[in-house]
Amino acid sequence: MSSDSSAKIETVLQEERVFNPSDETINRASIKGFAQYQKMVNSAKSDPQKFWGEAALEGLHWFKPFNTVLDWTDPPFARWFDGGKTNVSYNCLDRHVKQGKGEKIAIIWEGEPGEVRKITYKQLLEQVCRTANALKEIGIKKGDLVALYMPMVPEAAVAMLACARIGAPHSVVFGGFSSEALRDRINDGQAKAIITADGGFRKDKIISLKNAVDSALSGNSCPSVESVLVVKRTSESISFSPGRDYWWHELVPAQSIDCPAEEMDSEDRLFVLYTSGSTGKPKGVVHTTAGYNLWAHMTFQWIFDVREEEIYWCTADVGWITGHSYIVYGPLSNGSTTVMYEGVPRPSNPGAFWDLIERHKINIFYTAPTAIRAFMKSGRDIPDKYNLKSLRLLGTVGEPINPEAWIWYRDVIGGNSCPIVDTWWQTETGGVMISPLPGAIPTKPGSATLPLPGIEAEIVNAEGKSVDVNQGGYLVIKHPWPGMMRTVHGNPQRFRESYWEYLPPINGSLVYFAGDGARRDKDGYFWIMGRVDDVINVSGHRLGTMEIESALVSHNSVAEAAVVGKPDDIKGEAIVAFVTLESGANHNEKLLTDLKVHVSTEIGAIARPDEIRFTNSLPKTRSGKIMRRLLRALAAGEEVKGDTSTLEDRNVLDELRK
Ligand code: WT7
Repeated sequence: MSSDSSAKIETVLQEERVFNPSDETINRASIKGFAQYQKMVNSAKSDPQKFWGEAALEGLHWFKPFNTVLDWTDPPFARWFDGGKTNVSYNCLDRHVKQGKGEKIAIIWEGEPGEVRKITYKQLLEQVCRTANALKEIGIKKGDLVALYMPMVPEAAVAMLACARIGAPHSVVFGGFSSEALRDRINDGQAKAIITADGGFRKDKIISLKNAVDSALSGNSCPSVESVLVVKRTSESISFSPGRDYWWHELVPAQSIDCPAEEMDSEDRLFVLYTSGSTGKPKGVVHTTAGYNLWAHMTFQWIFDVREEEIYWCTADVGWITGHSYIVYGPLSNGSTTVMYEGVPRPSNPGAFWDLIERHKINIFYTAPTAIRAFMKSGRDIPDKYNLKSLRLLGTVGEPINPEAWIWYRDVIGGNSCPIVDTWWQTETGGVMISPLPGAIPTKPGSATLPLPGIEAEIVNAEGKSVDVNQGGYLVIKHPWPGMMRTVHGNPQRFRESYWEYLPPINGSLVYFAGDGARRDKDGYFWIMGRVDDVINVSGHRLGTMEIESALVSHNSVAEAAVVGKPDDIKGEAIVAFVTLESGANHNEKLLTDLKVHVSTEIGAIARPDEIRFTNSLPKTRSGKIMRRLLRALAAGEEVKGDTSTLEDRNVLDELRK
């Protein structure tokens, strides 16, 4: 571990400040006080079937009620709410309109250049119906997979809901991924259509999306794709392939607003979302209809506890799970007003977030630690210029937050009065798993605090035995929950092995493990310590070191590559690549730049190495395994400690140190 990160963990260990919910927070909360939380925990634990069954009847609309709550007869393949029929788009739209909330604003959208659109629930329902009918017109049927490659425009949310409405699962690919990455995801899921835009605005530049789609599809490399629906956003010139490509503004507005929601089985697929693991290609995480909807719905309600008139904003992109659960499905299922922003803070507008909060009078703000650390670095003068008094609750997600950043967030952004919810979860968990409930759980800076009711989390060692207080170990979940991923698309064996058989069963039952280390303090609070596998977290984006290595090795000049993370003040982790070259290749500045560009092309700019170090060989064990522990220490500029006796060639270390 680096001196830097061990210093961080020490501060975490010494962190003893506790912030109790204020009377005001408790009074307005639905879950008031620790005793009420405890009561919910106990009822979920003593009778999970009853707890989840009641929650599902209350939280969702059912065309037909379910027969069973949880079927866990074939673990780890769970079935939730079998026999039931529901529709996620109905739950997010129709039921609110039917309850007289049609005129309420569902989405407040702001584009990076500054235009604002406010869409009511009634308008959103109409747009979703039109889009759903348009999808039908281009041949999309229930069960067909639709890929989305979109900027942060309202049409992204509309498209997701339109897919859900007709039972066509979506596969959203983050707009920052390259055409190669898009192609892999299209082919893995066999997407039948793509919804995209000409381009999007990002940091005062145009990101060309349609061009990337064209290259992904070029040379018939994605034979499953029959059509491409294109939103006009930037009006840049793009090429159009007749018979395959359709303009959204020509096809969609012409459709009828009548499109009854398909009655879906609880376990029908809602979406596939790709995420990085420690081995192989990114995994298509499969989420299904009722369980996912319920989990996004309940967790949103429990944690953010949004009142009718309040405005909520999550700064994520819809290309990530945070955007799925907490920009689109969670808020809309609860009938809340959700803000969508196309831009990010940038040199031309460093106060962009605070400006939005002031103008739209945002009450609840949910962002990532990396953003908070960047704001801290540029100084409080920027946020201090804005009126942030509308805020009443702040959230963070994506990576561990250091106590310093937590305190700064609370003080400078929250005016020392907003509770902070540090929410721990993953693409695989569908929604938040460990988080404070603002009116019930005292917070400690840097801790995600306690599991939500129904979530049985624990820290164990490699043998599956519980560890002592403050001992680090593997963070596991011991009981299925409705929002859990159901499988890896096309690879159930990988689902079983990577998540449920990584650790031995506990008391005969499989336990879920998805890669994080953590410890628990004397109060039972969870302190997440980060990934223990070969996954790195760069600015809250999850990347497999293997993926970046394969991208590097696919370059002609590269023989071998090993990628590690190194502590970074702003990004959390920075990417360092150790590379050996093919004989004859010259390790010069040009190749260095070429390799960085190559990785951006293969995966996307988020995977671009911050540092590349050329070397003649990599440190390996006698069995040929790269010793990343050594490389991590070297990358962080530390002394290599611990056992190096398994190293095949001791000279490698000396060479790397130079
Ligand atoms: C990984 C999951 C969950 C949506 C965004 C990322 C890390 C996430 C926290 C937190 C410490 C966190 C974990 C996890 N992580 N939230 N509050 N504290 N670490 O989703 O891309 O699936 O990444 O993000 O390491 O495993 P993801």
